Amino acid sequence: MRDDKPPANHDDLDLDSIRSLDEFEQLSKSRLSAMAYEYLTAGVADETTLRENRNALERLRLLPRGLVDVSRISTAVTLFGRQHESPLLLAPCAYQKLFHPEGELEALLGATRAGVTFIAPCFATVTLEDTAAATSQPLWFQLYVNPDRAFTRELIQRAETAGYEALVVTVDVPVNGPRDRELRAGFSLPPGLARANLLSLGAALASAPHRPGGRDIYSVVRAPDVTAKDIEWIKSVTRMPVIVKGLLHPDAAEQALRHGADAIYVSNHGGRSMDTVPAAIEVLPHIVRRVAGAKPVLFDGGVRRGSDVFKALALGADAVAVGRPFLHGLAVAGAAGVARVVEILWAELAMTMGLAGTTSVDAIDESFLWESTSGTSRHQPRA
Ligand code: FNR
Ligand code: LAC
Repeated sequence: MRDDKPPANHDDLDLDSIRSLDEFEQLSKSRLSAMAYEYLTAGVADETTLRENRNALERLRLLPRGLVDVSRISTAVTLFGRQHESPLLLAPCAYQKLFHPEGELEALLGATRAGVTFIAPCFATVTLEDTAAATSQPLWFQLYVNPDRAFTRELIQRAETAGYEALVVTVDVPVNGPRDRELRAGFSLPPGLARANLLSLGAALASAPHRPGGRDIYSVVRAPDVTAKDIEWIKSVTRMPVIVKGLLHPDAAEQALRHGADAIYVSNHGGRSMDTVPAAIEVLPHIVRRVAGAKPVLFDGGVRRGSDVFKALALGADAVAVGRPFLHGLAVAGAAGVARVVEILWAELAMTMGLAGTTSVDAIDESFLWESTSGTSRHQPRA
């Protein structure tokens, strides 16, 4: 159906000549309005956490095992009873028509071609029903609990009816943070763009500015009073597994699990919600330790190389998502760009596995991380 449509913005660009995710970022700048580019790339406040997400991943060192037969490598993982060919996911990112005229539909087409799961954002510029109708692959839906709980319930039921297989509930932006860079760039939804899933609340709410300004710290489209009780309530109104996104405190992760969460998604929103929180990769092992294998742990924040995916898996993540990289791919070359971003990351993950000396995702653990103080791997594998 949509597969024969040439992706917009493709020009004569030879995507195979693009070797790394960073190159997509460099190319996207000239293809986006200044406002869209700033919205895409910005973090909150001084962007300390945004930088730390990258720095902390770069600081980690790998220790290859060696003398291992790596002639057959599998990147497959199982999540919520379904096999995925890789642990890679596309993170939920709002307003994708800012980056491509077809928005979420184009990104989904790229995800479908590449064979990874797309997490459709609550604040999409295309309805969740139109999105679900555009693929036969499994889809997940990201939810922002709305101040109107009856509407929230309706939204959850719409997602379930449309066939979404998991619900990602984002809980790390109860109030707005100071997104200085985004505001300086004059971020607003251009005419014609709206939060398509929210249209039944009225056009005014569906396109309301997401930061009112002045001393108002609240958003009209995100509830500021989401607690563990809401997780329990959400569990009671859906059959979809519920993944809680944006928890950094091990106590909160444990609390979410006690209230029925099916997975914890460790994320600091790509350095966009609260500044000076630790890098997501630094928090990850603490949450993993607390969850102790009871439920899956998902991860995102600063992943730009297959070796970053490997590091997150080594620290206990069961799946790893990217946000900005696929949006850059979308801006540069639509679905083909998204698919190329995934292809690069996936190939690099397999290369890292082979070079490190492991052939399955399950076997990636802390023994592949170098502990510089003791001159050994973090955990000596048993002889
Ligand atoms: C996001 N993110 C996000 N998260 C979420 O739960 N709901 C949302 O609507 C959005 N919107 C959004 C827009 C844009 C432009 C970006 C860049 C990010 C956060 C996203 O899901 C993810 O946590 C981060 O993007 C991960 O960090 P990296 O991969 O961008 O470094
Ligand atoms: C963002 C919001 C929409 O990160 O989650 O821009």
